[in-house]
Amino acid sequence: MLKYFFLSYAFVAAIIVAAFGTRGSKSELPPIEVFPDMDHQAKVKFQVKSEFFADGHAARMPVKNTVPMGFQVPDKPASIEAATAAYGFTNGVDYYHTGKIGDYYGDGLPQGLKVDKSLIERGERQYNIYCAVCHAQSGNGKGVTSKYGILAAFNFHQPGNLDASNPGAYRADGAIFDVITNGKGLMGSYGANISVHDRWAIVAYIRTLQVAAQEGKVTVQ
Ligand code: HEC
Repeated sequence: MLKYFFLSYAFVAAIIVAAFGTRGSKSELPPIEVFPDMDHQAKVKFQVKSEFFADGHAARMPVKNTVPMGFQVPDKPASIEAATAAYGFTNGVDYYHTGKIGDYYGDGLPQGLKVDKSLIERGERQYNIYCAVCHAQSGNGKGVTSKYGILAAFNFHQPGNLDASNPGAYRADGAIFDVITNGKGLMGSYGANISVHDRWAIVAYIRTLQVAAQEGKVTVQ
């Protein structure tokens, strides 16, 4: 009986010493690592020699024609107009930047925005990049995501889509702009991805899709 007592005493003592015994003591040896978690990897540190490269330096010069990125911090633009010109993204408060006049969505493209072929083409390009996955290239809301049953995106071709008195199907230009900027319901916001100018270009392009569908130039369900 006593034998078992001493055995288990020695066993418990060994565990306690193993767990707590060497805490706080200093050692030159590397710690025992049960899970190394990629702590140690082959690498070169700054300014060290290397036998690997012919010139004996571990550090390398940038590859020829490397373009530096992020070295120029632009000055804060003096005005909203200057900021829009410089970055294309601002938090301005007028119709051009919000799609709203006072508390209401405006309709019509903002004054000063040149509506021409290049604007529509820009809109087509950006729409196909950012919107078509859900709203479909035609705008009928049956983009590729609908095939996976993920989202029911808004259909720009619902009956009455160009009739401003039909709130179910019609969205004012400013309302579309605002949905792109801030998202709505299940749709996320694209205000950080699509510049102010390009949001209006997309609005203009959606109108051309709707008119084309109405005139029977595009077939949409
Ligand atoms: C990831 C899928 C997805 C993408 C990408 C997407 N949308 Fe949507 N969109 C939706 C869904 C889903 C709705 C319906 C939102 C709801 O009612 O909850 C919607 C609704 C809308 C509406 C109607 C909102 C309202 O007033 O009821 C507009 C306008 C719209 N999207 C425009 C766009 C434009 C323009 C783009 C491209 C910049 C775009 N969407 C990109 C999924 C998407």
